[in-house]
Amino acid sequence: MQEIDFRELGAKFSPSEKRGIGLIKDTDLLIFCPGISTCGFAEIKMALQNKKRQIIATTIDTEGFKKTKKITKQLNLSNRITVKNEDVAQPMPYHDKCFDFIYARLILHYLSKQELDKTLKEFYRILKPGGRVFIVVRKKDWEANTPNIEYNANTKMITYQLFDSNMKLTPKKVSRYLHTNDSISNHIKTAGFGIKYIKEYKEQLFRDYLRTSPAPKLSSVIELLVSK
Ligand SMILES: C[S@@+](CC[C@H](N)C(=O)[O-])C[C@H]1O[C@@H](n2cnc3c(N)ncnc32)[C@H](O)[C@@H]1O
Repeated sequence: MQEIDFRELGAKFSPSEKRGIGLIKDTDLLIFCPGISTCGFAEIKMALQNKKRQIIATTIDTEGFKKTKKITKQLNLSNRITVKNEDVAQPMPYHDKCFDFIYARLILHYLSKQELDKTLKEFYRILKPGGRVFIVVRKKDWEANTPNIEYNANTKMITYQLFDSNMKLTPKKVSRYLHTNDSISNHIKTAGFGIKYIKEYKEQLFRDYLRTSPAPKLSSVIELLVSK
């Protein structure tokens, strides 16, 4: 198997990321990864685990798309990892029942309630029977209780200002659908999936693609493994 020194490349794997990659079985040969990880390191790891495996990794971030394409090419993995500039909330150009595993870490809370339902329906359509989806979403926590938040009851998106590393408010605003165990479970069940496990914990998240800028506090996340 090809050896790659991830630390030398600057990769920092988070606990939930290691767990998600660890859940993939040897028989999972076609994997869909919407919302590419930093430089595609998670997707590269998945490809290296099994030389028969194919990965489709997508993002709407043009910079991230270019960087990931470049690094997979440098590592001679372009024939195994297809990097695409694609919006997960749009109808997906994949056949019914084609993927063995979907790795959806820290992507679904970017979607409104309506987009999330459409996306999960598409996940269900493109997944093989018995296929599994690994999901990590942000949980509603301290950022949802900061000043000046705006809540859209129709989309369930919360718009809030980010804090810097000294816990000072910055002008930068983001919009997320921050979940509770019930909200994400209900969306999952509505799409037809069964929940194998659900758990919540705190994890260090980062503000930037290269994971150089940590969020000023640990973030609560909800992790699920679901199956068709
Ligand atoms: C928190 S990051 C990284 C997620 C990655 N799976 C990981 O575990 O590190 C979220 C990524 O999803 C991308 N993204 C956000 N909204 C998206 C959408 N609608 N479709 C595809 N990618 C999206 C962002 O550009 C970013 O690259």
